[in-house]
Amino acid sequence: MFPLHRPRRLRRTPAVRRLVAETSVEPRQLVLPMFVKEGVSAPVPIASMPGVVQHDLDSLRRASVAAVEAGVGGLMLFGVPTTRDATGSAGTDPAGILNRALAAVVEEVGDSTVVMSDCCLDEFTDHGHCGLLAEDGSVDNDATLTAYQDLAVAQARAGAHVVGPSGMMDGQVAAIRMALDEADLADTAILAYSAKYTSAFYGPFRDAVESQLSGDRRTYQQDPANGREALREVMLDLAEGADAVMIKPAMAYLDIVRQVADVSEVPVAAYQISGEYSMIEAAAANGWLERRAAVLETLTSIRRAGADIVLTYWAAEAARWLREG
Ligand code: PBG
Repeated sequence: MFPLHRPRRLRRTPAVRRLVAETSVEPRQLVLPMFVKEGVSAPVPIASMPGVVQHDLDSLRRASVAAVEAGVGGLMLFGVPTTRDATGSAGTDPAGILNRALAAVVEEVGDSTVVMSDCCLDEFTDHGHCGLLAEDGSVDNDATLTAYQDLAVAQARAGAHVVGPSGMMDGQVAAIRMALDEADLADTAILAYSAKYTSAFYGPFRDAVESQLSGDRRTYQQDPANGREALREVMLDLAEGADAVMIKPAMAYLDIVRQVADVSEVPVAAYQISGEYSMIEAAAANGWLERRAAVLETLTSIRRAGADIVLTYWAAEAARWLREG
């Protein structure tokens, strides 16, 4: 008579496993982050992110179309400028690389996907910080808010459907919302990087955008030790008018994804960042992991934790796998 309970019955065949699966990953839930570099006429490989490139404008257009054809839900663009200054002025310049890229991609794919822009200064500043620096070298929160307003308006004018403030300045969502509304851009949505942790896993991204940062972002990004603070950041962003909230990184913060998903009134995104990508790519390249299975397992885990939307460098490829079934 023993055992009385046999959970294995529901695992016996592929059909029964398919029937009882709680979580699914769909292409439409995946967002592809993409890098575009100024002044190049061919894509440049990123050594620490095998398979990911810094696009030129033409290859960005082609890759955007391919990702849309694969069924991804959105694209998130990052710019890599040739010149940087203390205020990140290339970010607001309509002829700056990110704004040109947004216009090019929107021209190419129109409303067939959701075009998003990283709304932050770090790619454009010569000191690599996400904000403007005060005389003493600290990051000046309130001066940065004004810069973010200009950045968001420039990106929305270039065609971004969604702006993604990722600098973790206090009040950034309210400031950007106000500026967009005043500029007659009330339809541009804000995907707030609400709980963004200071993480060693951003390493490869800093190569991808040729970051000029020396030092760290601990005075504005969250301490990995803290969970409650993430909920506070999310609540503030909701009160400030965020249309969706994001947790970043994803895999080391699945508990935070779950806690936020349990209380958020708006869609929850999680960003599977560069280091999460590269560690699996590196292990797979060594034959230590089965690449496709490992990738799909991580995407499933992020969805299971409660994310509605997953930003991942595998978005287009995973979308193709999912369609193949
Ligand atoms: C800041 C920004 C970063 C990432 C996205 N937006 C880097 C950082 O905070 O240092 C990281 C994304 C990744 O690692 O894939 N603009």
